[in-house]
Amino acid sequence: HKPVILSPSLLACDFARLGEELATLEAAGVPWAHVDVMDGQFVPNISFGLPILAAARRVSGLYMDVHLMIEQPERYLHDFAEAGADGLTVQVESTRHIHRAVGMVRELGKRAGVTLNPGTPLDAIRPVLADVDLVLVMSVNPGFGGQRFIPASVERVREVRRMLDDLGSEAELQVDGGVTAQNARALVEAGATNLVAGSAIFGADGGSAAGIQAFRDALA
Ligand code: DX5
Ligand code: ZN
Repeated sequence: HKPVILSPSLLACDFARLGEELATLEAAGVPWAHVDVMDGQFVPNISFGLPILAAARRVSGLYMDVHLMIEQPERYLHDFAEAGADGLTVQVESTRHIHRAVGMVRELGKRAGVTLNPGTPLDAIRPVLADVDLVLVMSVNPGFGGQRFIPASVERVREVRRMLDDLGSEAELQVDGGVTAQNARALVEAGATNLVAGSAIFGADGGSAAGIQAFRDALA
């Protein structure tokens, strides 16, 4: 089957060297970069927003995989699309109108993703599964990098895989939070096609290229 897409989370990179960090990812042959936007409301932390995405876009050809951890993301979808997002993933808990939000992303010509917190029942995303290009299973409570993987997430990935297969959906099944070279294979065996990793890549001994290689070895 298709090779697993790795989406390194820029949240864990050195922001003072953003351009070099992106160049290292590209040289390592990674196709995506994961961009974590936090507003201090939906999650208890503030990360970065539109100008940083625009700067990354300016210097990099990587697919910009934007994860919006913000209240009422509808307000900003247009701006993130304009700033260079290729995909926009919204949290089902962050809006009363998830169906409208994913529709707006597609109307903007971008790939629409939906995600949910570890405590949210999977049924919450069922009504929009046919309308998305990506489903993200959060495997930590969003807000911070470097947290421990929640083991029950593997079963949630397996269940989302069943839901997508039942629909005949080709959507990416992404996992984010505490993903490492050690748990990557179990996630892919459960049906994930796309893995986000921050600290496991940028915090690796030998740097991000070595971190990426560790994932490749684990998945080979
Ligand atoms: C968590 C973010 C993640 C985070 C992952 O709120 O959505 O993308 O950067 O970081 P690690 O891989 O260190 O858990
Ligand atoms: Zn994320």
